[in-house]
Amino acid sequence: MKTPSHSPEGPGGPGATKAARANAGARRPTPKTVRVWDLPTRLFHWLLALTLVGSVVTGSIGGGAMVWHFRLGSLALALLVFRLVWGLVGGRWSRFASFIYAPGTVLRYLRGGQRPGEHLDVGHNPLGAGSVFAMLAILLVQVGTGLIADDEIANVGPLNKFVATATGLAATAWHKNYGEAIILALVALHVGAILFYRLRKKTDLIGPMVSGDKSLDGAAGDVPPSRDDTRTRLLALVLALAAAGVSLWVMRQGA
Ligand code: HEM
Repeated sequence: MKTPSHSPEGPGGPGATKAARANAGARRPTPKTVRVWDLPTRLFHWLLALTLVGSVVTGSIGGGAMVWHFRLGSLALALLVFRLVWGLVGGRWSRFASFIYAPGTVLRYLRGGQRPGEHLDVGHNPLGAGSVFAMLAILLVQVGTGLIADDEIANVGPLNKFVATATGLAATAWHKNYGEAIILALVALHVGAILFYRLRKKTDLIGPMVSGDKSLDGAAGDVPPSRDDTRTRLLALVLALAAAGVSLWVMRQGA
């Protein structure tokens, strides 16, 4: 009886027979490139990251830099309004519906179990989704408390005149202390988790947030991509301009 040919490098290695290599190829289909993050989501993400860094720096400097702190706050509001709408009408994997997971799914993901047809690692996985929602929520609270804040020296948020003095002062305390600390902790966790995936799990999440594409193996490669064509980008532009309009209108209430 003929013994099967085994190569020390594995069935597809250089020492394997042609047939063994063909079989190995059939078992390991070439990964497919899938557009996961549409351009508007990527622009939103990197602009939000820059805005956050700028806001922390200008807030720490204070004085004349507060003019920029207010401008960046206005930009953050516009970005968040845009993302809330994009979460409803944006690309397949940017929609909130694609990354709202039941607690049971999160627990199963943590235990390493995925059901057939469940593509938990294509968009935001159940752990990442939690951090995304937490960051969006705390950033909204940070912008909201900034809008009604009053530092009793020189800086008053544009909506401060609509709230009681005590509310404005409580908002200021939150904005400057807990709010900023929680955001910095969440961002540190966020970046730490991404580095963990890169170093320990050999999974690059940053590349897809830059190029938009993920290289997906097996059944995961058959998922529908996020739409990211001229039409959706124009829609995003219109929504971004509308979000900027909303933000400017809010900021003008203080005039
Ligand atoms: C500095 C402030 C940052 C904030 C506020 C922030 C916030 C966010 C948010 C809200 C998302 C969800 C994107 C969406 O669905 O719209 C996200 C995803 C992501 N961020 Fe950041 N981010 C920050 C910095 C960074 C940095 C420095 C990196 C790179 C090291 C990074 C890499 C990523 C990646 C790779 C994803 C996608 C994660 C996934 O595949 O699920 N972020 N970030």
